[in-house]
Amino acid sequence: MITLHDKTFEPYLSAAEIDAINQKLAAQVYKKYKNETPIFIGVLNGVVRFVSDFLKHYEGNCEVSFIKLSSYQGTETTHDVKRQVDLYCDITDRHVIVLEDIVDTGNTLVEIIKLFNEHNPKSLEVATLFLKPDVYNKDIPIAYVGLEIPNKFIVGYGLDYDELGRNLNEVYQLKV
Ligand code: IMP
Ligand code: MG
Repeated sequence: MITLHDKTFEPYLSAAEIDAINQKLAAQVYKKYKNETPIFIGVLNGVVRFVSDFLKHYEGNCEVSFIKLSSYQGTETTHDVKRQVDLYCDITDRHVIVLEDIVDTGNTLVEIIKLFNEHNPKSLEVATLFLKPDVYNKDIPIAYVGLEIPNKFIVGYGLDYDELGRNLNEVYQLKV
């Protein structure tokens, strides 16, 4: 059990389980893009650990970039997604795969897809490490899902609770 700020979390996924998910995702994406050079664009900050380990398992040629948007305060999602950092690479006519740590309501994803489509990529797909299917209510298809999880707040492996917990090598779930 661990405590971050005022909340207690219990172990949910081990480092080995997370690594197996990354390996599966990297293989799925490679199968589709092995003859191309896709651009992976990670959504900061939560995605840092996922991007790093996903790339470790990705066998093909690829480029990597990041974007930052944020909608979370504490453990509650907000509908006001602010574009905190713009897109710094040219995605026009490129195969783009958005890498997300977790898709919850999908509000963040809607903003990202809207922004990216303004730049006319050749193709645009989404890969997320975690998806909360009970909460996700948007039409955007998510081509690659690492793990579907229940609607409970998690931390660790890049994911934070008010900025704490990103350094944990395992994923923990909020204890109620
Ligand atoms: P959405 O816009 O509601 O889909 O929220 C997406 C973002 O909220 C993710 O990229 C995360 O940064 C954050 N988030 C959503 N669920 C969790 C969670 O359970 N733990 C930590 N962060 C989360
Ligand atoms: Mg995020």
